[in-house]
Amino acid sequence: MATETRTPYALVTGASRGIGAAIAARLARDGFDVLMNFRSNTAAAETVAAQVRAHGRQAWLEPFDVTDRVAAKTVIERMLAERGSPDVVIVNAGITRDGLLAWMADEEWDAVLHTSLGGFYNIVRPLIGAMLKARLGRIVTIASVSGQMGNPGQVNYSAAKGGLIAATKALAREIAKRGVTANVVSPGLIDTEMTKGLPLEQMLQAVPAGRLGTVVEVAAAVSYLCSADAGYVTGHVLAVNGGLYT
Ligand SMILES: NC(=O)c1ccc[n+]([C@@H]2O[C@H](COP(=O)([O-])OP(=O)(O)OC[C@H]3O[C@@H](n4cnc5c(N)ncnc54)[C@H](OP(=O)(O)O)[C@@H]3O)[C@@H](O)[C@H]2O)c1
Repeated sequence: MATETRTPYALVTGASRGIGAAIAARLARDGFDVLMNFRSNTAAAETVAAQVRAHGRQAWLEPFDVTDRVAAKTVIERMLAERGSPDVVIVNAGITRDGLLAWMADEEWDAVLHTSLGGFYNIVRPLIGAMLKARLGRIVTIASVSGQMGNPGQVNYSAAKGGLIAATKALAREIAKRGVTANVVSPGLIDTEMTKGLPLEQMLQAVPAGRLGTVVEVAAAVSYLCSADAGYVTGHVLAVNGGLYT
């Protein structure tokens, strides 16, 4: 979605590793400068920034915790003042704290909900007005197959991602007339640090494709939803899950 007057830019949360890192690199390849948020892993973020710059695009690092509403608002207000409204916003930062609900600690419920669902609000709320005024933009949230099917051992994560899907669909309908789309990419089992340590051999038996997905495959789906070609696609949940759930 290029504008003619300046290089378009994307805000990507959780861009230092895994899926967010691949999205940052892919959007740079697509022609976007990238404002990269992450929590604390600056060394990893610098590596991703080098990939963005290798595509001839600018990378700006903005470490803050998306659960911190004040920090998010402060950075976003500065971003809007310095760079104008973002062309693309990717709400990707997310965590898991798996365990059966019967034994779940309050912190495990709160941390997961606050990161995925609270992070959506803390990021999108301060910038949506500017995007509507610009009458241009793409919002993509990264949910999960767990939020669609409900996954035992992940009541917290399923609730957070299910809520994120519902929030994105509702937002899509609020903003469609202003030329801003909002869509969900919903990955299945993807090869990142998040899935390290899981009993993958057993879990992959449920995946028709019989393998983990790659971060590049998830980033390609995001790239499409951010493209000019996807201007009439909004409120959609694009599953990238090897057939695990349809
Ligand atoms: N991997 C999968 O199989 C899978 C499947 C479905 C959905 N997803 C979703 O895809 C998204 C990315 O997952 P991933 O596998 O790439 O995870 P990952 O490898 O663990 O990377 C997580 C990223 O999010 C950042 N982050 C975490 N909490 C944050 C916070 N509070 N504030 C700001 N940044 C934060 C991390 O920053 P630091 O590096 O600074 O810690 C890192 O950049 C998540 O929303 C996840 O739920 C993943």
